[in-house]
Amino acid sequence: MSWYHNAVFYQALVGSFKDSSNNGAENKGIGTLRGVIDKLDYLQWLGVDCLWLSPFYASPLRDDGYDIADYYSIHPDYGTMEDLEELIEELHRRDMRIMTDLALNHTSSDHPWFQASRSDPDGPFGDFYVWGDDPERYPEIRVIFTDVETSNWTWDEERQQYYFHRFYSHQPDLNYDNPNVQDEVFDILSFWMDKGLDGLRLDAIAYLFERNELGGESLPETVEFVEKIRAFMDAHYPDAVLIAEANQPPEETMEYYGSGNRFHMVFNFPVMPRLYQALALGDATPVYDILDQLPPLPEGCQWGTFLRNHDELTLEMVDDDVRELMYQAYLPDDSMRAHVGIARRLMPLMGGDRNKVELMFSLLMTLPGAPFIYYGDEIGMLDDTSLPDRYAVRTPMQWDDSKHAGFSTRTPARLPIVGGTSVESQINDDTSLLHRVRAMIAERHAHPELGTAPCEPVETGKKSVLGYQRGNLLCLHNFSDRCVDLGTVELGPYGWAWLPA
Ligand code: BGC
Repeated sequence: MSWYHNAVFYQALVGSFKDSSNNGAENKGIGTLRGVIDKLDYLQWLGVDCLWLSPFYASPLRDDGYDIADYYSIHPDYGTMEDLEELIEELHRRDMRIMTDLALNHTSSDHPWFQASRSDPDGPFGDFYVWGDDPERYPEIRVIFTDVETSNWTWDEERQQYYFHRFYSHQPDLNYDNPNVQDEVFDILSFWMDKGLDGLRLDAIAYLFERNELGGESLPETVEFVEKIRAFMDAHYPDAVLIAEANQPPEETMEYYGSGNRFHMVFNFPVMPRLYQALALGDATPVYDILDQLPPLPEGCQWGTFLRNHDELTLEMVDDDVRELMYQAYLPDDSMRAHVGIARRLMPLMGGDRNKVELMFSLLMTLPGAPFIYYGDEIGMLDDTSLPDRYAVRTPMQWDDSKHAGFSTRTPARLPIVGGTSVESQINDDTSLLHRVRAMIAERHAHPELGTAPCEPVETGKKSVLGYQRGNLLCLHNFSDRCVDLGTVELGPYGWAWLPA
């Protein structure tokens, strides 16, 4: 068993977590790496084992940092390389770990490689991106952000050609058929891993190569390159974890494990929407069904289980009727839609019902995989659905009930504070969601079998109750708003229990 099998992960966005304070640094109303350092005691108290920071690289922030303009520097708003080094040191001193995101599929159009590629087609970067004269090439490759882009090709006046992009048109895809691009990846990996990181989430990994086959996703070329990355990591950073963001159907998701020679972990995109679906229906069947479709993992591998993250609650991979059901249940207002999903936080999705939120956390802790908590969800933070794109779920963390929520001494510069609750108010209340989540994390740590034991479905005799055995634990979750009597145990509305099996 490796450290990540049982680690509790916590995702934070640097710019939204905590502004610098008490460090002599100037407050800008933007979260910083020093601000994160200030809050490590809190994360340790909560029981977090590994902090995941979303991109903090130099970027024009047109996609909140997933549009990287320089792979080797830190966005000046967030601090300096020394700040990052200190953060890593402080985490390790507390026996905690740190991972971050790398977006390798694309860069920002501001990246000097792209600028050089535009202006000098015959120069060293001329072939770093996917250029062409035919905007109909790769007709089989879907447009992902269908609400904002109509094509994967955008015309470039300067080069007088089209360039290919899976996401926003300001995010040109790198050309992985060019060996020089591949070489750059290994330099980037070494640079950041040598700083002492413990892991990386490789963003949008399914899309590295372009071909018409398989809709251009999870291509053999792509997973082969992943194997090279893994071999490189094993040779140089054998304790580090690689996590795939591959939002694909169940069988395809398994591709990212290979025989245990690709990723250590893959986010469990197949299971996540089924939890919300089961809740909307008051019926556990969708979760039984999806668990049934997921084969056992190769040796050394683990799922990354999650309820929410910085993106929309994605519905790309569910059937049309399920998507419709989810919109009906969770999208009362179209302003909450982002791409093919729903940009809302956990507590509002649960209609403010604390029982439902706890049920979801209990599933997060006991389903196969290591749990990933999205910052703020542990206090049931609300969202601001008037904000565009996915910013509704990226507002500043609420530390206390003061004017700027303890996030900054200044008015937040980018996104407003939503309010309604705070860490401080919940720490002072033993009955709060925060205390409950903390207790669940402790309970999860007390049951290491949850990290590795197979998940064996158990028939409960009640449609609304999901049962599964993990080692010596029987986990029961009631998806309905009614009490359910199972004979040996009674579950309240949205009740749950972890019992000795
Ligand atoms: C990230 C998104 C981002 C997209 C394109 C993703 O998969 O999670 O936040 O918008 O990559 O960069």
